[in-house]
Amino acid sequence: MLEVRGLEVGYGELTILRDVSLNVREGELVAIVGANGSGKTTLLRTIAGLIQPRKGEIVYEGKRIEVLPPHDRAELGIVYIPEGRRPFPYLTVEENLELGGFNTRARGKIRENLEFVYSLFPVLRERRRQLAITLSGGEQQMLAIARGLMAMPKFMMLDEPSLGLAPKITLTVFEVIKRLHEEQKLTVMLAEQNVKYALELADRAYVLETGQIVMEGAGRELLRNEHVKKAYLGI
Ligand SMILES: Nc1ncnc2c1ncn2[C@@H]1O[C@H](COP(=O)(O)OP(=O)(O)OP(=O)(O)O)[C@@H](O)[C@H]1O
Ligand SMILES: [Mg+2]
Repeated sequence: MLEVRGLEVGYGELTILRDVSLNVREGELVAIVGANGSGKTTLLRTIAGLIQPRKGEIVYEGKRIEVLPPHDRAELGIVYIPEGRRPFPYLTVEENLELGGFNTRARGKIRENLEFVYSLFPVLRERRRQLAITLSGGEQQMLAIARGLMAMPKFMMLDEPSLGLAPKITLTVFEVIKRLHEEQKLTVMLAEQNVKYALELADRAYVLETGQIVMEGAGRELLRNEHVKKAYLGI
């Protein structure tokens, strides 16, 4: 579904991603794991079209997309949920959700999609008339994911959904990602510092170190890998 080849990305003089190649098959859940500053966000932003690569190709459903602006990529079903995403604080939960569903693919289905995201996150239904600023951090992260789903993604990228969340809320959020993947067959790319959770959840994962892919494999396999255990799991 997605193939990235020889990607080089930088900011000004700085080169961050070097020769990054990876692929995601339809229906797969692929994790990108790596330490702070390894380039996970840069990679996701480049795929979403928010940063232009210096070199390399991004092929999505057989088409080169690295030249397309972000909204065209969104119309193709590529949805990016940034890290630490904040909703519009003075709109209600439901208004935030409705804004997520305004692309041409999703516009006609706002009612059904609201029902769907409320069934995934019942707490958002309870809070639907409440201003987003009054939500807890965990509820805001749920709202961010729900808002992304309102756009009816085919390929959803989540950047650190567990960031700043208590373990219990993290579990709830990961449980929903798992359901979307298993029941809705949604293709997911997940960037996480929480390496253990991410590898348990992922079909496959790539390990990113200082802007380069150093390892690739099945999630469970990488969990048993000596380098991964030492560098990321502290065991
Ligand atoms: N706009 C920018 N201008 C200059 N350097 C940047 C910019 N954005 C990111 N960087 C640098 O690029 C490197 C990779 O950052 P990136 O945010 O992609 O890492 P990350 O893996 O997502 O880290 P984290 O786990 O902390 O979110 C870092 O060294 C960062 O300082
Ligand atoms: Mg990041």
